[in-house]
Amino acid sequence: MNQALKSWKQEIDQCDSIKMVEDMRIRLLGKSGEITQMLKSLGSLDPEARREKGAEINHLKDEISQHLEIKRTTLSAQELTERLAKETLDVTLPTRPEAFGTLHPLTRTVEEITSYFAQFGFSVAVGNDIEDEEHNFTALNMSEHHPARQDHDTFYLNAPQMILRTHTSPVQIRTMKTTQPPIRILSLGRVYRCDFDATHTPMFHQVEGLVVDKGIHMGHLKSCITNFLKHFFNVDDLPMRLRPSFFPFTEPSAEVDIGCSREGGALKIGPGKDWLEIMGCGMVHPKVLAYCGVDPDIYQGFAFGMGYDRLSMLKYGLPDIRPLFEGDIRWSKHYGFSPFHSTGA
Ligand code: DAH
Repeated sequence: MNQALKSWKQEIDQCDSIKMVEDMRIRLLGKSGEITQMLKSLGSLDPEARREKGAEINHLKDEISQHLEIKRTTLSAQELTERLAKETLDVTLPTRPEAFGTLHPLTRTVEEITSYFAQFGFSVAVGNDIEDEEHNFTALNMSEHHPARQDHDTFYLNAPQMILRTHTSPVQIRTMKTTQPPIRILSLGRVYRCDFDATHTPMFHQVEGLVVDKGIHMGHLKSCITNFLKHFFNVDDLPMRLRPSFFPFTEPSAEVDIGCSREGGALKIGPGKDWLEIMGCGMVHPKVLAYCGVDPDIYQGFAFGMGYDRLSMLKYGLPDIRPLFEGDIRWSKHYGFSPFHSTGA
């Protein structure tokens, strides 16, 4: 018996793959393996001899199992070391330029806007593309028959009261209802209106800012957006004007124009003879504050909203809005950005 143990152990030692160890296990301990057969043959012995022989065979079986296990562990550690050595990756190799992805101009714009406003304590509030009329209109001081609702070319869904949001302003409502002032948020993302030509797509993007605190006035609003626009377009002497306007959810309301020139047919943002309308803004209407449970006698707020597809188009010289959403890789390569460039905020 000892002789058998010794020679089996030697055979196991000589295995040089996990497969060989497994074959050996089957040969000895499998259903009709040699040791299994020995155990089966015990039945024919008398009880005294069976006990003695049984103990011996069980000892043999334990020794072999243990030996097999040790060999298997050593081999799998060896195999892993070999694989790791073979599969090393040289991270110092240069990248292949043709494999470079680019950041979409809109992704880049979002990064620029959010990192700029983050410096002043604005956080990003997330809303839903599917909204109800209550948050999209009613709470924003547009009651059921308010004419401003007609301007929005709304997509109505098959469920009562449900629509695709026509602007990011409902996020103001959701935030004010659930957050105690002071509030500083940006809400940005997709909005939907039934419109399609070179400067309109049924889905586009807006970014909205909201500040609610004690003692907030138009001066805060004006300096906030002046500084942002100067930074965004990288023009220090950017002319800007606020034109009186109307939005149901702000009072007073204004439209913001920035200076530009069209000399020689090329549009250039900066000092010039022309103006470009760029965003809407105003002081949050007391009715809107009150609707959200914010006391308008204690708190005031300002808000602004703009389409950042248009901001990107102006900044990066994109003539048509539609290719922004067509996913053409040649366009992305031309107009996209390297992910390694800083946003410069
Ligand atoms: N929600 C407006 C729109 O889609 C844009 C807007 C105007 C947002 C003025 C504002 C604001 O927050 O104060 O036309």
